[in-house]
Amino acid sequence: MSRIIATLQQATKRYQSGDTEIVALQPTDLEVRAGELMVIIGPSGSGKTTLLSLLGCVIYPTEGKVNIKGTYTSELSEKQLARLRLQEIGFVFQSINLIAPLTSLENVMLPLQLSKVKPAEAKARAEAALASVNMTDRQKFMPKELSGGQQQRVAIARALVTNPEMVLCDEPTASLDIKSAEVIMEELRELARQNKAVAVVTHDPRLESFADRLIRVENGSVVE
Ligand SMILES: Nc1ncnc2c1ncn2[C@@H]1O[C@H](COP(=O)(O)OP(=O)(O)OP(=O)(O)O)[C@@H](O)[C@H]1O
Ligand SMILES: [Mg+2]
Repeated sequence: MSRIIATLQQATKRYQSGDTEIVALQPTDLEVRAGELMVIIGPSGSGKTTLLSLLGCVIYPTEGKVNIKGTYTSELSEKQLARLRLQEIGFVFQSINLIAPLTSLENVMLPLQLSKVKPAEAKARAEAALASVNMTDRQKFMPKELSGGQQQRVAIARALVTNPEMVLCDEPTASLDIKSAEVIMEELRELARQNKAVAVVTHDPRLESFADRLIRVENGSVVE
């Protein structure tokens, strides 16, 4: 069996709004392994983003534990958590969050600059990441000059550029045509073959065939 990268142990997420409580994710046990492309499906509001965000340490569980590469995140300081997110996890958000005043290339270089990679190397790696999502010809464009699908591809390049152990993508193909979506899924599957842990949320049943492992979320519960 391949290495476990992330584990959820009875991880639960509740939100309180006024006097109503929403259970976004019921107590969940899950292992995410290197070398595996996990596809997460389920209806809108079922808890997919919540699940992915817990794995990516973007949010923290109300109860239960998250373990990344052998360390419980509850035992890390904010600074250590920030480093973990920067270096080990590539996250593509459902709402694309490129930095508006930066070009495509600068957006992709950003995580490397934050990791103190030398500018020339950061540029070369960012160019390679953009090439892998077929965006070489849009390097100098600002986010507002790109289509939704192109912005998504830049966001994917930015998630991959640090060479993270775990890549988490929330609907990365939502604004893409099927051909471009398949190119992205191929790329993500290739990452899994390079022994990364990859998880992708999608609404598109045509992309389920790329999965090594298919997970369904319904009403805040995970069903394999
Ligand atoms: N910050 C929040 N505050 C309150 N409730 C929230 C919050 N974030 C999510 N929820 C609730 O948790 C539930 C699960 O949300 P989540 O975003 O995980 O769904 P999803 O499966 O990703 O849906 P979609 O396919 O529409 O993106 C929803 O009912 C949502 O209203
Ligand atoms: Mg979502």
